[in-house]
Amino acid sequence: MRVDLLALICCPKCGSDIKLSENYEHNGISINFGKLECINCRAYFLIKDGIPILIGGNQAQKREKEERDELAKTYLNASSQELLNIISHHHHISIMKRRARIFASKFNSGEIMCDIGIGWGWHWIGIRQPNIIGVDFSFNSLQIAKKLLEKQIDKNVHLICADASSLPLKNKVIEGVWSVQSLQHLPPYDLITAFTKIKEVLKEYRMEIYWVNYTGLVELLHKIFNKTYPKTTLTPYFYHKISKKELVEIIKANMGIQETDIEISYNETLFNPDLKIIHNFNIWPIDVFLGKIPFINSFLGRQITAKINV
Ligand SMILES: C[S@@+](CC[C@H](N)C(=O)[O-])C[C@H]1O[C@@H](n2cnc3c(N)ncnc32)[C@H](O)[C@@H]1O
Ligand SMILES: [Zn+2]
Repeated sequence: MRVDLLALICCPKCGSDIKLSENYEHNGISINFGKLECINCRAYFLIKDGIPILIGGNQAQKREKEERDELAKTYLNASSQELLNIISHHHHISIMKRRARIFASKFNSGEIMCDIGIGWGWHWIGIRQPNIIGVDFSFNSLQIAKKLLEKQIDKNVHLICADASSLPLKNKVIEGVWSVQSLQHLPPYDLITAFTKIKEVLKEYRMEIYWVNYTGLVELLHKIFNKTYPKTTLTPYFYHKISKKELVEIIKANMGIQETDIEISYNETLFNPDLKIIHNFNIWPIDVFLGKIPFINSFLGRQITAKINV
């Protein structure tokens, strides 16, 4: 963790400033081990392996956090190539890396964006600007992000172990938010808190949020086989697929953004990693094209995206 990150972060419990305790291990650029203390409530937080752990104590997603940590732990010694191979089973790497690059290009080098639920961090490999604060509540996932983003850590990428429901960032310190398939795991109450906080930390609304789409195709297949296709599931942990109407409503209601400023699109339309057929093909123009065709897009698109530029 770089010392100048202190100007941006705050206590996840009470929102006050936090200060660095005296004994810490510093390598000239960043702090590897140390302790942070809230100047108000006196809660303290550790910096471990260069990552500040600013967890507020919300237990609502305890099971998910443990499982994400457990999964990441099994890959802590894997090579970058092995990690990317595992990621490619769950995400369309080239489609998403291209989208991340386009999002990053909307910022100047001095600006800051936050990736909420950055996970293993692979979107940002090789992207040298803007400054990216990567937040995730799974410490072990962040350790993997550290490996994949090795050359960028504490240069333009800054990792924080924290919960999206108590984002430890001061008001109006960042210019944008990117979040891929993370907010879909927050229980309803925490989701409202998270959006309210996102609104507070942003100077302006430059956002791109990805969610798993409540696909018409999968719904139809379930109907044909006489099965129910639940929108929300609880195992192994909370997971909420979303429709266009719901996504717009959540953003409108919690961030006060007008519907006309929310652009909805769909992606991973044919290249759905769940189908495991052609998801490794880098034919992004086809994905962009299909994502624009009404009905086809919501029917087939695995991901739904809300873009906001206000
Ligand atoms: C499906 S993964 C996506 C990771 C990454 N965005 C990507 O696209 O590869 C969801 C991530 O969100 C994180 N996450 C879920 N709920 C969270 C919360 N309340 N606060 C912080 N991170 C959370 C998980 O630990 C996990 O890394
Ligand atoms: Zn505090």
